[in-house]
Amino acid sequence: MAATRTFSIIKPDATRRNLTGAVTKMLEEAGLRVVASKRIRMTREQAEGFYGVHRERPFFNDLVAFMTSGPVVVQVLEGDNAVQRNRDVMGATNPAQAAEGTIRKAYAESIEANSVHGSDSDENARIEIDFFFREEEIVG
Ligand code: CMP
Repeated sequence: MAATRTFSIIKPDATRRNLTGAVTKMLEEAGLRVVASKRIRMTREQAEGFYGVHRERPFFNDLVAFMTSGPVVVQVLEGDNAVQRNRDVMGATNPAQAAEGTIRKAYAESIEANSVHGSDSDENARIEIDFFFREEEIVG
């Protein structure tokens, strides 16, 4: 199968606990390659835009506050079936339901502070990658 790309965020709960390397190691061991990466402090505008589909959800304001509360690491990951591969290694959104061996089982603190984000489809992966990266910043 041809390599595809997905978009990942290492969230503020993970950067605060110095887990950037530990999370990235699990991504790499799952067969994903980091082809772009930068540590940023998301602005409120960026967080609101990125999570725009959740605007009407009751947790939206808390989610934006959390995602802007500390540094995040945004990444482009490449691998066979990258979107699903990343979702498999992340585990369920709610860490209480995450399987053994997944990033969220190992590190997530709560459904909000759940250590990582990953795109849910190839189409959203393209949109999310374009939101944070220029093509020349991605080096495969
Ligand atoms: P993420 O994949 O980044 O996309 C939306 C995020 O909203 C999700 O991960 C969760 O961390 C966060 N979130 C906070 N509360 C909830 C909730 N009750 N249900 C679903 N997602 C939630």
